[in-house]
Amino acid sequence: MNLRSGRLKGKMSHEAASFNSSLEFDKRIFEADIELNTAHTTMLAKQGIIPEKTATNILKALKDLKEEGIEALDLDLSVEDIHMAVENYVTSKIGEEAGYMHTAKSRNDQVATDLRLVLKKEIKIIGLNILNFIEEIINMADEHKETIFVGYTHLQHAQPTTFAHHLLAYANALRRDYERLMDAYKRVDMNPLGSAALTTTSFPIDREMTTELLGFSRIMENSIDGVSSRDFIAETVFSLSMLTSTFSKICEELINWSTYEFGVVEIAYEYSSTSSIMPQKKNPDIAELARAKSAILTGELMTIMTILKALPYSYNKDLQEITPHLWNAVDNAKSILSIMHGMLSTITLNKERASELAKSNFATATELADILVREKNMPFRTAHKIVGRMVTVALDDNVSIDNIDLKFLDSISQELFDKPLDLEEDLIRKALDPLENVRSRKVIGGSSPEATQNAILSLRTFLEDESDKNGF
Ligand code: ARG
Repeated sequence: MNLRSGRLKGKMSHEAASFNSSLEFDKRIFEADIELNTAHTTMLAKQGIIPEKTATNILKALKDLKEEGIEALDLDLSVEDIHMAVENYVTSKIGEEAGYMHTAKSRNDQVATDLRLVLKKEIKIIGLNILNFIEEIINMADEHKETIFVGYTHLQHAQPTTFAHHLLAYANALRRDYERLMDAYKRVDMNPLGSAALTTTSFPIDREMTTELLGFSRIMENSIDGVSSRDFIAETVFSLSMLTSTFSKICEELINWSTYEFGVVEIAYEYSSTSSIMPQKKNPDIAELARAKSAILTGELMTIMTILKALPYSYNKDLQEITPHLWNAVDNAKSILSIMHGMLSTITLNKERASELAKSNFATATELADILVREKNMPFRTAHKIVGRMVTVALDDNVSIDNIDLKFLDSISQELFDKPLDLEEDLIRKALDPLENVRSRKVIGGSSPEATQNAILSLRTFLEDESDKNGF
């Protein structure tokens, strides 16, 4: 049946038809569209809206189509979209009575429902993969609870930490990325079917029945909203964009750490390239590309937000233009996630270099100031001043951290406050030892092995709860 034969006097130009068609990216909702038509037809028959016999014929044709696959469809551009292609297939099998299938529904509620059905599955797949990645990261962290690492602020040496502590920063960010995505899922999991074009229908359809048949948790309670809204897409793409932004930060670190200058990490050969001219090169191409590809997600989010902005209610064809950007965002998020998992889990850490960095450049200075506060009952600001001056003098006079002793500290204190510090020598050594620094940070979220162990346990509980909840 040609959709245009009633109202329109002629064909669209080839150029316009191709401009108008969503067939290419509709392939993704092919199976969902069959599922939807099956649920809708079943409901129409149950409600006595269409003849039982007709419903049986339609359902049989839909079942055949599912088995034959998308190749069985005529995907000529003039068909416009997958909904028409499916209807045309059913018509070709059972004749004119196929037309009953479209009673009390519109392509407007159909496409919104199909997109939600497919996106729900994609979110679950991505969610499971994030959980697997978090598990991998915590297993790595478990091995590195006493592996000294240097923490940076402003990309300048800040304080010693452990590699486990740093890895758990990734794991916790990914946990929130996961939770954000799962929160978006709740609003994807709403059924607009039955909204029809925009105001529902005068046929006594049972929206609760189709909601149940299609496995949605909730019905969209306003039909105009049902066909007009794509905020479920915008927030899913935002969540994915945030996720890949976390990845791009991790990539940035791997790229820095694997330079000769840092030298703390070696990216596996499987994730490295070389140069066509410089034979010595081992380049972090995969990390660079993952960092760059995260921009695709941000770009798609901007495109989607911009299409949505200021659209009048209810359905506008502009909404169709959102769809390819959604799938591009989903596909890129999936591939970046997968590559990140492989790349991070195969890095090699140079422990000696990490420990050397943590010791050098006065990364332990905060702890020395803290010790002065504790042992000498002095305000932190005063201690900060003494240690700050000590670092400047040490740098000016080329005194290494190992040569900082009581005499040296006393001379600074004498200069600033006209009195010595009288601190015990071994307290100074302890304060300047990265491992002692790390061990002393026992508070929740800290770098000590105990605090790290608790953080790992808490993440493991989270992983178990989520797996149970989502049937992973
Ligand atoms: N292909 C369309 C889309 O993706 C389906 C809805 C078409 N509705 C319409 N009134 N032309 O949005």
